[in-house]
Amino acid sequence: MEDLGRVFDRVADTYDAGRPAYPDEVFRALSEVSGIDLDGATAIDVGAGTGILTRALRARGSQVIAVDAGAEMLARLVARAAEEEGVPGLAAVLADGNALPLADGVADLVTYAQSWHWLDPVASIAEARRVLRPEGSIVGCWNFNHAAAADWLAAYEARLAEEVPAYCGPAVEQWSVPPIAAAFEVVEERWIPWTRLIGIEDLLLDLRSHSYMAALSLEAADDLVDRQRAELRAEFPEGLLSVPMRVYLAVGR
Ligand SMILES: C[S@@+](CC[C@H](N)C(=O)[O-])C[C@H]1O[C@@H](n2cnc3c(N)ncnc32)[C@H](O)[C@@H]1O
Repeated sequence: MEDLGRVFDRVADTYDAGRPAYPDEVFRALSEVSGIDLDGATAIDVGAGTGILTRALRARGSQVIAVDAGAEMLARLVARAAEEEGVPGLAAVLADGNALPLADGVADLVTYAQSWHWLDPVASIAEARRVLRPEGSIVGCWNFNHAAAADWLAAYEARLAEEVPAYCGPAVEQWSVPPIAAAFEVVEERWIPWTRLIGIEDLLLDLRSHSYMAALSLEAADDLVDRQRAELRAEFPEGLLSVPMRVYLAVGR
């Protein structure tokens, strides 16, 4: 339990500041595919982190039980929720998503946003099935830079692949989405494209929040961020980026 999520606890502030939210289309697709109205649904958001998906579900009327193994990540989620005065319906639980401290059959949705690949692929899904109501759904989603959609982004990812030993992403030839769909019954998968408009410094904050960056020494991470900044500034002197993104969404039982 102590080791779980530790890597993200080290970058909780940059994660909170730098990572993108999920576009509206993800929630429309989730409701359509699962047949579950988010307004009034009970969701268990496993690996909730600083609460990016948790907040989006709550904003759409869901009651959310946010579960995460990282105390620092969960503390950001709770602090943000405290700022949202008058928005009820949140429980935050410091726990292992492979052994949920929750009763059977309590949820309409179990969600894993950028998180299922950190869990045990068998135990996590068994737990999700246990805590779901009979008509409930399991949801996995991941936000990716769509590197193939822009030369500058492909070059940005290629520099990461060259310089970061633990890099995992679209610049790796054998890279693929986490195989959550293989763990499901009744699966529908969708790719949802969207565009993220951000400044260069915000993209660099996002970069620093990745686990493969947290594995570098501070000096090596700073050098890499400086190099990426120089390349991006040379290409986009006005400092603004239009980043092609896509969300992989898998919904099953
Ligand atoms: C990449 S973050 C995703 C955060 C958030 N869901 C989002 O969409 O940005 C992965 C999260 O999974 C958590 N995590 C990793 N292993 C876990 C486990 N076994 N049980 C619960 N949470 C875990 C980490 O602490 C981290 O907060």
